[in-house]
Amino acid sequence: MKVLIIGVTGVIGSAIAKGLSDKHEVIPVGHSSGDLRVDITDTNSITQLFKTVGRVDAVVSAAGEMFTGPLDTMTEEQMKFGFMHKLLGQLNVARLAIPFLNDGGSITLSSGLASRIHRPGWSVLSSVNIGIEIFSTVAALEMPRGTRINVVSPGAVTESLEKWGDSAPLPIHIGTPSAEVALAYIGLVEGTANGTVVDVGGVGTETDLLDT
Ligand SMILES: NC(=O)c1ccc[n+]([C@@H]2O[C@H](COP(=O)([O-])OP(=O)(O)OC[C@H]3O[C@@H](n4cnc5c(N)ncnc54)[C@H](OP(=O)(O)O)[C@@H]3O)[C@@H](O)[C@H]2O)c1
Repeated sequence: MKVLIIGVTGVIGSAIAKGLSDKHEVIPVGHSSGDLRVDITDTNSITQLFKTVGRVDAVVSAAGEMFTGPLDTMTEEQMKFGFMHKLLGQLNVARLAIPFLNDGGSITLSSGLASRIHRPGWSVLSSVNIGIEIFSTVAALEMPRGTRINVVSPGAVTESLEKWGDSAPLPIHIGTPSAEVALAYIGLVEGTANGTVVDVGGVGTETDLLDT
């Protein structure tokens, strides 16, 4: 299969590429680096990417920056950033990818644990993640030519927790290795699921959840 991966330089994207590359042709798409680049907040950039690459069997998005912050101080600009980037950016990737999918091809997007775990400071992030998930579930009813759309909702990733250290946006201390998280994306690319949301990885420990 020809699999285009957006966010391929990231923690999860690079693990997906590694996991797929033995059996499939991976088309890596960067943002600030790489031969092929895209800005998912820019519709023209997404359209240009698909026109350049042409038809593929799968599109995977492991991109989307998030905003977290307290309700009483958040600005409209911060809310817009949260919604425009991870939510609208990925939904536009999905919408614009459809004509470039081979019959039976798939789209896999990324949400995250904030759709299930609700904490102070996450009102925008949780809305964004749930938005991605419900969009996919309903869009699946309209996918043409046997094409499919699904979402992976990762828990905290081990390598991300290591990278973030004390500045982690998630108050969680136990992660799941990226290679394991990648298996959920690979399963959706290679399988037949449509309109599903796959939760992968935990949310840390009971103590993490109580540690608000
Ligand atoms: N890691 C976790 O613990 C975790 C947990 C739950 C959910 N998630 C979700 O999983 C997804 C991937 O997370 P990650 O931790 O792998 O992210 P990451 O390591 O920060 O990587 C993000 C990737 O997205 C690219 N990117 C950034 N802005 C972009 C834009 N405007 N257009 C296109 N690509 C862009 C980055 O490229 P540049 O570096 O060149 O900008 C990079 O390749 C995200 O949606 C995230 O919210 C992650």
